[in-house]
Amino acid sequence: MKGIIFDLDGVLIHTDELHYQAWKTVADKIGAPFDRERNNLLRGVSRMESLEIILQGVSQKYTEEEKVSLATEKNGVYRNLLKTLKRTDVADEVRVTLAQLKAKGLKLAIGSSSKNARFILEQVELIDEFDAISDGNNITNSKPDPEVFLKAAEYLGLDEKDCYVVEDAAAGIQAAKAGGFKAIGMGEAAKDPRADYKLSTFSDILTIVS
Ligand code: BG6
Ligand code: MG
Repeated sequence: MKGIIFDLDGVLIHTDELHYQAWKTVADKIGAPFDRERNNLLRGVSRMESLEIILQGVSQKYTEEEKVSLATEKNGVYRNLLKTLKRTDVADEVRVTLAQLKAKGLKLAIGSSSKNARFILEQVELIDEFDAISDGNNITNSKPDPEVFLKAAEYLGLDEKDCYVVEDAAAGIQAAKAGGFKAIGMGEAAKDPRADYKLSTFSDILTIVS
């Protein structure tokens, strides 16, 4: 294997929790039922698709314009939370593991549905650790479509069969398998039977690739 493509939110950093808090603010405002279980359905899917999942819980119909406004509001709350992120929000275990994977000669990429991925990576001083970044700005279809990972592999100059994908989302595991990658599940996705490998802790990746 020659490369590893990492999801960002919920894999390298706890921004999945910040997504939850920002959506919770909007959901409470419109009276949509929203809890951590429903939040798991939003993992890996785009901002607008996430909103559609939340709106399934309300009978009121929203126009496209109103939907865009709700999604923009959520992103505003989320961006304010992101501004507080700093270097120490990435666990030492993550930084050390990434350095060790690089030392083994593996190429590292980001494969995230988020349009805020670069901003987050800059905030936490992780951006220089990656050879390529594929994110919500360079794709048409969000996970479970494999596009974001196929683009990441292309940017690395690698074939999908030579790359692992590390994911915390069911949609991400599905995308990885659809694209022909080896899927490594962590967090929520460690329960997914489609994952080829499961992590109990981030540094377990070193055992998988050795
Ligand atoms: C993914 C998250 O990484 O990015 C999703 O798991 C989120 O929950 C998606 O909806 C899009 O993020 P953003 O930052 O572009 O709203
Ligand atoms: Mg994720």
